[in-house]
Amino acid sequence: MAVLVTGGAGYIGSAFVEQLAAKGERVVVLDDLSRGHRAAVHSEAAFYQGRTGDRALVARIAREHPLDACVHFAAFAYVGESVSEPGRYFDNNFTQAQVLFETLVAAGVKRVVFSSTCATYGVPTAVPIAESHPQWPINPYGWSKLFVERLLESFDRAHGLRFVALRYFNAAGATTRCGEHHEPETHLIPLALRAAAGRGAKLKVFGRDYDTPDGTAIRDYVHVSDLGEAHLLALAHLRRGGDSELLNLGTGTGYSVLEVIEAAKRVTGRDVPSEPAERREGDPPRLVADPSRARAVLGWEPKRPSLDAIVRSAWDWMQAHPDGYGPGA
Ligand SMILES: NC(=O)c1ccc[n+]([C@@H]2O[C@H](COP(=O)([O-])OP(=O)(O)OC[C@H]3O[C@@H](n4cnc5c(N)ncnc54)[C@H](O)[C@@H]3O)[C@@H](O)[C@H]2O)c1
Repeated sequence: MAVLVTGGAGYIGSAFVEQLAAKGERVVVLDDLSRGHRAAVHSEAAFYQGRTGDRALVARIAREHPLDACVHFAAFAYVGESVSEPGRYFDNNFTQAQVLFETLVAAGVKRVVFSSTCATYGVPTAVPIAESHPQWPINPYGWSKLFVERLLESFDRAHGLRFVALRYFNAAGATTRCGEHHEPETHLIPLALRAAAGRGAKLKVFGRDYDTPDGTAIRDYVHVSDLGEAHLLALAHLRRGGDSELLNLGTGTGYSVLEVIEAAKRVTGRDVPSEPAERREGDPPRLVADPSRARAVLGWEPKRPSLDAIVRSAWDWMQAHPDGYGPGA
């Protein structure tokens, strides 16, 4: 049996495929390369370039490979872009997912692990955030992901599709082979490291007047390999016949923007040129997970929670891949 990994040419998906292949699993990657990189796709994975909403293609993949599960990473994930182009986000993240799940169910594939997000909570009223916290997203990206959670719940009831929706907080860090190469990059750690390397603009610190100890926003950074391990555990849970679950993936510890900048200085031994900027609309002061349910249900424990270790892994990857997966890749 093989596992279908959508978005396996992207940042988190490619790192996960590496872990899956290391377990001896057969892997099929479906990615349209709209945001990913062909070079990031693991050499042992069968690769199909196409969209998750291409019913004929997904049906063909299911005919050509006996699939027992799908790990669905493929999505657009820029919050700002989702505000200016909501239709694209609802189409790509929701409608395409609907076609994907319908086609999988028709082919008898009834196990899905889904990349959800803490953006489904919106502005939290209580931190750390537990799964029971109300979900009221503040942008179309968050809504598109929340709708997929509801879609999966409906497919569970109607078709017996069992799923684990994993609400990631901030994915960060790299493996030796796989790292973060987004154009444009919007994530703090790669931007801080680009600034340290003198390869980017000064790092913009959005908001210095939050109600946090140093006035900058606090986020929960999870190493990409820890995220991957949670997906392996989620797959094992579903294969054991486990019930559908919605789980947070975070470390439970938050770091401010200034703390990340200090970590980037320590790791690189260089300055990180930065400048203050206005708060971004809809950026909550503090997003930190209560990860206890993922621990209880999956036995998941982040093994790389240290911020310096996360930043170090991203820096090592950037040093080894100064052009990411290649110019224009
Ligand atoms: N990076 C984070 O911190 C974070 C946090 C929360 C949730 N997530 C979610 O995790 C997932 C992976 O994130 P990432 O940072 O690796 O993103 P990414 O952009 O690096 O990877 C996404 C991949 O999906 C592909 N893709 C997009 N739409 C597609 C479609 N319709 N059909 C086929 N392929 C398609 C892209 O080409 C890309 O390779 C996304 O669903 C994202 O919403 C990410």
